[in-house]
Amino acid sequence: MAIALGIDVGGSAIKAAAVDTGTGRLVSASTKVDTPEPSTPAAVIDEIVRLAAAVGAEAGAPDAPVGVDVPSVVIDGVVRTAANIDRGWVDFAARDRLEERLGRAVVLVNDADAAGVAEMRFGAGRGRSGTVIVLTLGTGVGSAIFVGGRLVPNTELGHMEIRGTDAEHRSAAIARIRDRRSWEEWAADLDEHLHAIHRLFWPSVFILGGGVSAEADRFIPRLTVPCDVVPAAMRNDAGAIGAAMSAVTPVPEEASQ
Ligand code: BGC
Repeated sequence: MAIALGIDVGGSAIKAAAVDTGTGRLVSASTKVDTPEPSTPAAVIDEIVRLAAAVGAEAGAPDAPVGVDVPSVVIDGVVRTAANIDRGWVDFAARDRLEERLGRAVVLVNDADAAGVAEMRFGAGRGRSGTVIVLTLGTGVGSAIFVGGRLVPNTELGHMEIRGTDAEHRSAAIARIRDRRSWEEWAADLDEHLHAIHRLFWPSVFILGGGVSAEADRFIPRLTVPCDVVPAAMRNDAGAIGAAMSAVTPVPEEASQ
């Protein structure tokens, strides 16, 4: 059994678990803490180190490989964007710092890419062919595009410009709550975003994840985009599971080094 530790850093919470990467099952409790405020690299990395030690000990695998995901573009272990996390992450060599702190190799990936990898292997993406687009609807909108099962890393479809602004300002799950909109109003904005993506990529299916996927019945039936749209199957642990999987099977961006 190949156990790895997955740490999923989000705009509002950091989740961690030890994962059996062959089955996608958790072998520790899924552990969650609030993302520190401000979410500086130093504060977040302290939490990551603490969580990795806790879930590693619980699974009896304190030295297991570690995969970490962040809500940012990550190139060669360096964080390049910070839409929903402290600006101090931009150009920060996070992988090197994590490796120093954790005393082992760390794989660092984008959060939606991690969730997408888990969905494709163990969730709603299983057996899907063609172009598959996984969107995570949370504090922002993350995207992961798979072509023939292979990830195109670091796509940022949440930041497509729609009506003169970042699409995620209206289609992220948090936008519905923040702007006190009805499910119907929010679904219309999400639909507009999906149509804009569909016009450019013609996916065979959109897989919609993030906590809001638990309420898929409230918005998926209202979407009119001309392809399949299904809720993610892995729910809240997809990021941590995918991050752990990335630690043992690097994503293409990491594999190319
Ligand atoms: C970020 C992405 C991230 C997404 C979900 C966006 O604002 O730019 O990198 O995947 O939020 O967290």
